[in-house]
Amino acid sequence: MNIRFILVIGLFSSLPAAAQSKPPADVEKILQKHACLTCHQIDTRVVGPAYKEVARKKYKPEQIVALIHKPDPSHWPGYPPMSPMPQVPKEDALKVARWINSLTVSKK
Ligand code: HEC
Repeated sequence: MNIRFILVIGLFSSLPAAAQSKPPADVEKILQKHACLTCHQIDTRVVGPAYKEVARKKYKPEQIVALIHKPDPSHWPGYPPMSPMPQVPKEDALKVARWINSLTVSKK
């Protein structure tokens, strides 16, 4: 194997990770600080819905902020209710909300 071949493999094997749309650092920090990631992943259902699923609902960012502060479990039949998180500062929640809405990629 020559070195170029190895580099090409390296490039391709890193693609799936990139496609998983990791949150930008500031958003990730907020998600970690408030332990959102224990219940939410980007692409897959955990305790709560995947953020990509939330993105499909096409909420306005302000609506998402309100739903973080005061969830409405009737939006998600089959899921346990999320506990209200009024402690998340509005600005932080807005950043998360805008990022969630940016996830409306490929999947319809
Ligand atoms: C203990 C688990 C848990 C944690 C922690 C949690 N969530 Fe949730 N979340 C859920 C569940 C379950 C649902 C679906 C049921 C519901 O909306 O009550 C949900 C729903 C949502 C929704 C969709 C609201 C709707 O009505 O469509 C958003 C947005 C959301 N969560 C964001 C967050 C953010 C941001 C954080 C961190 C600040 C967070 N969640 C922390 C479990 C959690």
